[in-house]
Amino acid sequence: MTKTVIANWKMNLTLAESLALAQAVVGYAPDYPTLRLIIAPSLVWLAPLAEAVSYRPSNFFLASQVVSPHPEGAYTGDVSARQLKGLVQYGLVGHSERRRYHHETALEISGQITELAAVGITPVICFGEMSQGEGNRPPPAVTAALGQDLASLPGEVIGQCLLAYEPLWAIGTGTRATTGYIRKAVKGFKTWFGQTLGVTPPMIYGGSITAENAGELGAINELDGLLVGGASLDAQTLAAICRAFSRQV
Ligand code: PGA
Repeated sequence: MTKTVIANWKMNLTLAESLALAQAVVGYAPDYPTLRLIIAPSLVWLAPLAEAVSYRPSNFFLASQVVSPHPEGAYTGDVSARQLKGLVQYGLVGHSERRRYHHETALEISGQITELAAVGITPVICFGEMSQGEGNRPPPAVTAALGQDLASLPGEVIGQCLLAYEPLWAIGTGTRATTGYIRKAVKGFKTWFGQTLGVTPPMIYGGSITAENAGELGAINELDGLLVGGASLDAQTLAAICRAFSRQV
């Protein structure tokens, strides 16, 4: 079964550094045929990068980190899904850093999902709890927020998305959730999606993933992939994560 590894470069890397890293990932992507490798560079480097990477292995894709909830118009500094079409195959939405620093609302997130899906870009919907709990059942605050983000969307749109479970307390902190915690949380959220929304999209995990802990995550059957931040900025570390996660050790 194909699993997904997304490299979220956030606001890092110059053009030259992004190109070098992308070329390295393109070079080793075929070594991991059971993975779909997706990189999300800075928005400003997407076009030069898409052009520079002329040879693309069939399991290599690009993602945007941002998208406007509006189709077009007077939204200075924003980029529409229509403008991203052709450049990327995936788009991150609802990342906690966007919610926190740009105060993105449920209405905007649902608009972003609609816009991406309308042009055939797969939305990657990020969500997760603020503080560490038991992991036994989805925290009501998170499901309530998800309910708001997704309320106006038809099941078939949600069914086309990828979900990224990212506990906020684990993002960029070096404190990864334990394997048992992630397994329980992913199972719980998948059950919630199935019962509440009638669809169970694939679910990946993000938050302080390293080459050392990726192997354990590969053992979680319910988990469909990883969303890697800081550790994805180094080509060899990302390769080690792919190797460990796909159990090619
Ligand atoms: P991290 O970031 O791997 O640096 O914790 C994950 C993310 O924010 O997607």
